[in-house]
Amino acid sequence: MARTGMSDGAPWAGSERQAGGPAALGAHHPSYVFAETDLLRRQAQRESNARSYPRRIPLSLRRAYGAYLEDTEGRVFLDCLSCAGALALGHNHPVVVEALQRALRDQLPLQTLDLTTPIKDEFVEELFALLPPAFARHAKIQFCGPTGTDAVEAALKLVKTAKQRANVLAFHGAYHGMSQGSLALMGNLSPKRRLPGLGGNVQFLPFPYAYRCPFGLGGAAGEDAGLAYIETVLSDPESGVLPPACVIVEPIQGEGGVIPASASWLSRLRELTRVHDVPLVLDEVQTGLGRTGSYFAFQDADITPDVLVLSKAIGGGLPLSVVVYREELDTWQPGAHAGTFRGNQLAMVAGLATLKFVRAARLDLHAAEMGKRLRERLCALQARVPFIGDVRGRGLMLGVEIVDPVGAQGRDGAYPHRPKLAAALQAHCLARGLLIEIGGRHGSTLRFLPPLIITPAQIDQVADTFAAAVDAMLANLH
Ligand SMILES: Cc1ncc(COP(=O)(O)O)c(C=O)c1O
Repeated sequence: MARTGMSDGAPWAGSERQAGGPAALGAHHPSYVFAETDLLRRQAQRESNARSYPRRIPLSLRRAYGAYLEDTEGRVFLDCLSCAGALALGHNHPVVVEALQRALRDQLPLQTLDLTTPIKDEFVEELFALLPPAFARHAKIQFCGPTGTDAVEAALKLVKTAKQRANVLAFHGAYHGMSQGSLALMGNLSPKRRLPGLGGNVQFLPFPYAYRCPFGLGGAAGEDAGLAYIETVLSDPESGVLPPACVIVEPIQGEGGVIPASASWLSRLRELTRVHDVPLVLDEVQTGLGRTGSYFAFQDADITPDVLVLSKAIGGGLPLSVVVYREELDTWQPGAHAGTFRGNQLAMVAGLATLKFVRAARLDLHAAEMGKRLRERLCALQARVPFIGDVRGRGLMLGVEIVDPVGAQGRDGAYPHRPKLAAALQAHCLARGLLIEIGGRHGSTLRFLPPLIITPAQIDQVADTFAAAVDAMLANLH
C-alpha cells in the first residue's frame, strides 16, 4: 500500500465539539442539522445568483486536512469532493505546505507572466517525465490562464489555427468548462439554454454510455454503432459536417455522470481521427494525475493524443492549467494565447510537489486499489438496493446512478432517472459527515471523488456512511 503521508484522522480530531469527528465517522454516524449561519445568510445576500455548490452543500468552512474538512460549527466531514477532483493530495498535505512555505521564505516572484524560472523549468521536466515518452519526446507545452476552461480555449485555438478549420466535434454529456468556447462544447443544455449567441460550429457525437446507450444496444454493440456513426460523419462527403479542427473528448466523462469510455473505444476513436487527419484533443482536466488508476486516463488505452488538456490536480490545489501537444501543431503566432496569470509560481511549486509525490508514492496504483475497494462495496449495495441502477467509473472517480425501479424501462433497458432521491441521498450523506457530489444526466448520479491519499480505513468509512444513508432512504421509502 502507498505511503500517503497522511493519517486516518485530522490533527484536530480530538478537539471537535461534535460527536462525529474523524475517528467517529462511520462508527456511529453523526447526525448534523444544518441551520442557516450568519456567514451563509450573508453569502446568500451578497453573492451572485449563479453560485452553485452552497445550494446543495450549505457549509461555511474553517479548516481542512487530508481527506477532512471542518466547518465553522466544528463539524467534521470526510471530503469525497476534493474541490471537484483538484486536490489529489487532499487538503494541506505536508509536502505541499512545506514547499509553499519554502518558496515564500525564498522570496520567489509570485507571478512571472510567461517568463521562465527554475521552478517552472522543473515543473515541466517533472510533468513530461510522467507522460508516455512517445508523447513527451515531441511535445510542446502552453501555460494558460489558470483554469481548466482557459486551457480548453487554448486547445481550440491551437488546433483551429493549425488546421485552419472552424468546426469542432464534441460529445453528448461533455463538460469542458464555463467560458463561452468551452460552453459551446457542453452536452448539458441548462447553462446554455438562456445564453443567446453562444458560438456554434460544434457537432455532437454519441458517447459510449453503456447504461443508457443512445442506440438502445449497450456494451460492445453500442460502442460499435457509435464509432460507425463517427466514421460516417468523418468520411461521408454528404454528412453535412465540414472537416473538423479536432475531436475533443474526456476519457471518462465526469460532470456528465462518471461515464468511462472503454480502452477499445478510445483506441478506435484514436485510429479514426488519425486516418482522417483530425487532431484528437483529450480533456484530462479531471481525470489527470493518477485519479483513474494511471497517471493519465488515456494510458489505459495505450494511445497517444495530439493535444492533452490538464488542470486541477497538476496545481497541487492552486490554480494552474496547461496544454501539452504534438509539436507539429505549434503553428500559432507569438502571443496567440496570452494571459496575465500564466506564471503563477506558487501553483507551480505546489504542483511540482504534488507531481513528485504522486510519482514517488505511486498514488496512481493506490487510487486503483482504493477505487476497487470502494467500488466493491458500492456494487454489493447495488445488489440489494433496487434504486441503485448503475455503479461505474475507474480508480477514485466513481459514480452511482440513482433510478426509479418501478418506472418504465427505456429502450436501453435502464430505469428512469431519480434526481430527487439522488439529492436526498447527498443530503443524508452530508448529515452523516460525508461530502459527495452530484452530477450526470438530470442530476441523478452521485459522485465519489476523494483525494488520492485516502486510506483503506477512510474508504470503509465512506462506504459505511453511504450504506447508512441508503438504508435510511430505503426505510423512508417503505
Ligand atoms: C473535464 C473538464 N474540463 C474542463 C473543466 C473546467 O475546468 P475549470 O472549472 O477549472 O475551468 C472541468 C471542470 O470540472 C472538467 O471536469
